[in-house]
Amino acid sequence: MWGGRFAQGPSAIMREINASIPFDKALWRQDIAASKAHVAMLGACRVVSGEDAVTIRDGLDAVGAEYEASGVPEDWDLEDIHMTTESRLAQLIGPVAGRLHTARSRNDQVATDFRLWVRDAIDQAEAGLQALQVALVMRAGEHADSIMPGFTHLQTAQPVTLGHHLMAYYEMIGRDRSRFHDARKRMNRSPLGSAALAGTGFPIDREMTAQALGFDGPTANSLDSVSDRDFALDYLMAASQCALHLSRLAEEFIIWASQPFGFVTLPDALSTGSSIMPQKKNPDAAELVRGHAGRISGCLVSLMMTMKGLPLAYSKDMQDDKPPVFEAAGLLALSIAAIAGMVAETKFRTERMRGAAELGFATATDLADWLVREGDIPFREAHHITGAAVKLAESRGVALDQLPLDDLKTIDSRIDERVFNALSVEASVAARKSHGGTAPDQVRLRVAEARAALGLE
Ligand code: ARG
Repeated sequence: MWGGRFAQGPSAIMREINASIPFDKALWRQDIAASKAHVAMLGACRVVSGEDAVTIRDGLDAVGAEYEASGVPEDWDLEDIHMTTESRLAQLIGPVAGRLHTARSRNDQVATDFRLWVRDAIDQAEAGLQALQVALVMRAGEHADSIMPGFTHLQTAQPVTLGHHLMAYYEMIGRDRSRFHDARKRMNRSPLGSAALAGTGFPIDREMTAQALGFDGPTANSLDSVSDRDFALDYLMAASQCALHLSRLAEEFIIWASQPFGFVTLPDALSTGSSIMPQKKNPDAAELVRGHAGRISGCLVSLMMTMKGLPLAYSKDMQDDKPPVFEAAGLLALSIAAIAGMVAETKFRTERMRGAAELGFATATDLADWLVREGDIPFREAHHITGAAVKLAESRGVALDQLPLDDLKTIDSRIDERVFNALSVEASVAARKSHGGTAPDQVRLRVAEARAALGLE
């Protein structure tokens, strides 16, 4: 395709290092679609004859049908998906195929194809995340009243409801969706027609190709258009942050499934056994989601490092943009599906969760709050009094609400029998009805809003 000025062909090493077809063949659908939009525009603008435009269009359809039926052939001499398609087109329709590449370059071609691919990946991620949110909201609704320990530092802190805990992930996933949404909006401009770097002298219509490919309009600067990979970085950034959330939830499932916790029984279908220990059921899917998050952020860093030193406009380094994006998209899709399955199918062992919430003096803050409310004691002083009560209970090996009233009174005489109403885990969560708090009524409220937002009502 470019041999005119060369006396010698590329060496074996040159061919191998240069060939992107082993991975960029994944762009074939986008490549055919963009070429069809381009040639239709060339025909409409009379840059090629209407007859040639139709011949080329039909030829592209035929190439696409071949790819669909038997895959994309990998010939390193043809370097990439763009040359592979054009060369097959020439075999099918003859020299008229050579008119397709008028007023474009592989530089705007690949920028366009890749944008279209990333746009689809965003739409896929969005759909998967919506399904995950549905699973979270369903389970949260079932467990708006189920009490579990809430942690800070992984130490028992205050009782919370399982529904509240699950809805925390609903919020995170909502932000992930909005990041993908933003990325999509920002990237949805067509670089096609920027040609190699400077634009073209042919009377083309970039609005027309932009519209045909579902873009909001053409990009504004040809140099930027062929050298910009922000759209891929935005995608990887959103994917990394999303994977990080999935990884945190995976980590919780792993901890909760561990025998000393015993908060959940993970679905068999998302667990594996051990080849030596017959009793084992391991949370491998969750562990791999946690592992994949590392690889996905690695993909982001990989592309940032590729881009950071490149002068305008296109450099071949940019061919390395695709593997990290393809890899991240595959890992993310699997991770979302695995976590959604875990959320939907996990058996929550609510008795054990509730039992654990009663350990570790989880309602100590409620005692302090009671002293503030009923005794008009400044919070810092109430905190100190409660600390003494915890110390006493701990030395006796009993829970706070198992200390006799007389003993509590020796710590502070202002304590009376009404305090016991405040010390149960039920009273503790029910009290926390501030906006966004863990009280079952608050959780039900947020679940209802979420169900409406997801169109479940
Ligand atoms: N395979 C190339 C890539 O993915 C296509 C663009 C090639 N452009 C060029 N000037 N050599 O980046």
